[in-house]
Formats: sequence, C-alpha cells, structure tokens
Amino acid sequence: MCGIIGILGQTLVAPLLVDALKRLEYRGYDSAGIATLETGQLKRLRAKGKLRNLQAVLEGDPCAGKSGIGHTRWATHGAPSVENAHPHMADGVALVHNGIIENYLELRAEVLAAGAQLSSDTDTEVVVHLIAAERAAGKTPQAAVESVLARLKGAFSLAILFEGEDNLLIGARRGSPLAVGYGEGEMFLGSDAIALSPFTDKVCYLEEGDYAVLTRAGAQIYNAAGQQVARAVQTSMVSASMMDKGNYRHFMAKEIHEQPEVIGHSLTAYVDFASKSTKLPEGTSFDFAAIDRLVICACGTAYYAGLTAKYWFEKYARLPVDIDIASEFRYREMPLKAGDLALFVSQSGETADTLASLRYCKQEGMQIGAVVNVPESTIAREANVVFPTIAGPEIGVASTKAFTCQLTVLAALAIHAGRQRGVLSQEEEQKLVAQLIEAPTLCLQALKSEAAIEKLAQAMSKAKNALYLGRGTNYPLALEGAIKLKEISYIHAEGYAAGELKHGPIALIDEDMPVIVVAPHDGIYDKTVSNMQEVAARGGRILLLTDEAGAAASGLEQGEVISMPSMGELVSPIAYAIPLQLLSYHTAVFMGTDVDQPRNLAKSVTVE
Ligand code: G6P
Repeated sequence: MCGIIGILGQTLVAPLLVDALKRLEYRGYDSAGIATLETGQLKRLRAKGKLRNLQAVLEGDPCAGKSGIGHTRWATHGAPSVENAHPHMADGVALVHNGIIENYLELRAEVLAAGAQLSSDTDTEVVVHLIAAERAAGKTPQAAVESVLARLKGAFSLAILFEGEDNLLIGARRGSPLAVGYGEGEMFLGSDAIALSPFTDKVCYLEEGDYAVLTRAGAQIYNAAGQQVARAVQTSMVSASMMDKGNYRHFMAKEIHEQPEVIGHSLTAYVDFASKSTKLPEGTSFDFAAIDRLVICACGTAYYAGLTAKYWFEKYARLPVDIDIASEFRYREMPLKAGDLALFVSQSGETADTLASLRYCKQEGMQIGAVVNVPESTIAREANVVFPTIAGPEIGVASTKAFTCQLTVLAALAIHAGRQRGVLSQEEEQKLVAQLIEAPTLCLQALKSEAAIEKLAQAMSKAKNALYLGRGTNYPLALEGAIKLKEISYIHAEGYAAGELKHGPIALIDEDMPVIVVAPHDGIYDKTVSNMQEVAARGGRILLLTDEAGAAASGLEQGEVISMPSMGELVSPIAYAIPLQLLSYHTAVFMGTDVDQPRNLAKSVTVE
C-alpha cells in the first residue's frame, strides 16, 4: 500500500510534498518521509506515525530544494519506525515505494554479499541499493532503473531521485497505480489524481510495466519492453476542494450525513424518476438477458454490498450469483464461463485482490463489470462496463457513503436485470423503483435518530464484544455493522445470520453482551424476532433496529429500540445502514479513537 509523490517544481517543494501526502494518508499512516534535492544534494526527513509528526520535524529542520519525493506508509515488511520509513537512500539515490517486492530476500542476500549496509527491515531498501550499484558501474539513471526493474518481482510503484540531477525524477508502475501530472514548467508523480489535484488536473495514468522519465519540460514514458510509448493525458475530474471536512469533526461524520444527497446523485444515473423505470448511465449498455450467471467479487465493506446484491439479483432477476471475497476468489479455481459477467465492487477501484481477480476473470474470457466510486481508478479503466457510484471522494477509512451508494446502484442494476430477463413486469419494476427512490428521504429520517444513538453509544463504548444479527438482506448488513464497530472502536464484534445464532454464538450471550438486531417489519421479521427472544431469554442486552410495526410486534420487555421509518424490503438495507454507522461512529468518539484513521488500517489496500 502506501502513498507516493514526486515533484520537480519551481518553488520550495517540501510544503507541496506534505500537502500531497495529506491527501494520500488514506493509503496508510504508519510513517511519513520526504527527500529533497538542494543544489544537487539529497536531504531526507522521516518520522514514525502520522504526517503531523513529520510536519513537526520539518518545522525544526526545514528542507530546501525544488525537487523532491515523499511517502506515507502502511507497513508490510518491517514494523512502523523511522528506520523503516521511506524514502530509502543509498549512494546518492533516494526512492519511495508502494507495494511489495516479492523476491526481496534473494535480492537482499545479493546486495549484502556485495557489501551494502542495510539500515531497515523493508523490502524497499534493496531496490535502492541495486540502482545505486548500477550507477556505480557507470550506468545512467534511466539505464540503472530499467535494468533493476527487470529484476523485480511483485506489485509496486516507485519514484526515484538522483543526487546531482535536480531536473530528473523517474517513476515506475507494476501492479500499483502511478499517475504523471503535467504542470507549467513543473512535473509530478503521484499514487492518484487526488494527490496531484492541488497542482494540476492534467494527468496520465501509467500502464502496467511502464516507467516514466520526468524533467520539468515533460515526461518520456517507456513500456515494459523499454520502448518509448505515448500515453493519453487526460483532464482529471478530481478537485482539490473535495477534501474539506466542512463543519464536521470527522470526515466520517460528514460522509454519513452526505448520504441522502449522494444516494440521490447515484439514483439519478440509474433511475428515470418520471416513468419509475431503471436505466443505465449514459453511454453504458449491458444485456443481463444474455448471461447465465453473475459472479461478484470484492473486499471488506464492498463485499457486503455485493452479498446484499446476491439476494437482489437472485430474487428480482432470477440470475444465479456466485460471490466471494477477492483474496479467496482468485486462488480457488472456480469454474467460470466465458461471456458471463464478473462484477467487481470497489470504492477505491485500486484494491489489489479485487484487481487481481478482475484480471483473472478477464483471462478466462468473462465480461468485466465494475461498480466503482473512483472513475479514473485502475479497476474502472480495466473493466468492459463501468457502473459508477456517485458518492464523491470518501476520506474516512471506514466506508459509509460509498457502501450505501454501492447498494443503491446494485439494487437498480438488479431491477434492470429483472426487466431485461423478462422476470419483472413493467408494473413490478415501477413498484420497486418507487421504493428505491425513497432512499434519500428515508436516510434523512434515519439520521434523525442520531441523538438517541449517541446516548446508546456511551454504554456500547464499555462493551468488550458485540453481536449483530439479521436475516435475508439484513444479514450482510449485520456483517457490515460488526465490521464498522471493529474498525473504528476496536471492540470485538461479529455479524451472524440470525438463524445461525443457535449453532454456536448463543453460547456467548450474557448480560455484558450487546446484541444489535436489524429487523425491519418485513416478510421474515417473525423469524428474526424468535431469535431475538432466544437472546433475551439468556439475558443478552438487546438493541433492536426496527420500524413502528416491528417495535409493536417485538414483545421486547427489556432492551432498547431504535425507531426507523417503515419502508419497502428492497430499500431497507440502505436506510438501516445509517443507524449502524452512527452507532459505531459515536462509540468510537466516546472511546477517543482516531475515527478517520483507525490503527493498522488503510482506506485503499493495494497489497495482497
Ligand atoms: C479496506 C477499507 C474498507 C474497504 C475495503 C475494500 O479494507 O478499509 O473500508 O471496504 O478496503 O476497499 P474498496 O476500495 O475496494 O472498496
């Protein structure tokens, strides 16, 4: 993972590097560092922990120079420490790296045997030593990089600076994303367009195996075979102002409250409000009637959105769905049929396992669909058909608005598929769409429960464990509620299909165990309530999320109820996600954790 930036600028580069790293902290925040070139000499500053620690170091020891590279780290090889922080340096070469060098042990033995002094436990440091050795043998910086790239295995992106070369920056991409930014007499390299957004909107995404040689006059790009190639420069739609917290204390709070609006944006692309019919975004076409099976693949919260969609595609479109988490999917050699659709769900569009599964399905001849939030991401670029979610940039590490927009888009797609496959009549489609377009209003109403949830969160913050239960499409939601709590409050939580409770987890129930039951008054409500009663009978502390009819029919004598508006079954996972998000958010705030940047996590996981 990690975020990287490189700048050949016209002004002092250190503050610009820090600004870009701020935008890249979603990729990791175990340490941060920069290296700049001042009159040909490399200077490096690094600090363990978040970027603010590096900023404090910089205040006491400013870095001059107009060329530089920077890095924010999510530790893979070697603990978070100053020694393991990037940039890594050797004999006049400084380098930042995102990803993993898989053959680093073998390369490490080689550089150690050649007499190199290694000062970190990282897989990265070996690369800088190899490049320095090629330089010492008389190669130009470009030739040195090219020959070392040929020896590296793994998925990575690199930015490299050379002592004595104030007007040179080399970047390389294999597996991990890297964009070249074009300014006026300035050039940039960055892990994504968000990092480059304060400097330029003219970006070029390197392709697999490319490396780029930058000077202030422009970039020359070479492919894996070393041939110079032309890559399109595009105008990025990402704006620097999208990173604003507004009046909220945390990005997560802002993003939770944005949901009615951004769900509305997503709906506009997939639904015709007047005729209550579904549509695909302009310029997109796909025939769900031409496939026999749908494969869905994703990680984390995006996987739970996909799991919900399995219920929808099977019920409303009679389309069999196979779904798996990407890290399992790509290695289990499941039978895949050429021509069927493989759908990849991802907020960032850069998750390494999801991307690898996409490439695997492509090789198998499948059609590739992507439900992605970042339109310029690798997954979006490599898909045959893109179904964008229009949540806007999501900064908080715990996914909120991206999840509900994924659900919105997937629900619309399932209805669309139902129509195309002749399963739903026009009238049935209209009824379902009428439900779905209520989502923004229902989410607004759900947000009104915030004050009540804040009170409940105080008790929750004292819990050591929590259970989340749901049936049907509320089962994936129970999983999502549990992961949300774990991620930001560090309270151990598990989500279960309510009916599965008696096959194990019921043994955990005692008066210290909060049990959050997601149960709108739908067709399977009675079954869920029976499971809830089994918990109540054993003294579990119940928190029931339901509507008025559900509360009246619950028979709950002890416990708390969070009241939701009544709504159709299709739309309920979207609206019920909100109280679950608010519960984990306020619990984490009570506990004083770092809500937007919880420990050990990163927003975009670009390593396997
Ligand atoms: C990380 C994030 C999760 C996210 C998952 C998948 O683990 O912390 O919030 O759901 O990656 O990310 P993607 O960008 O592919 O949706």
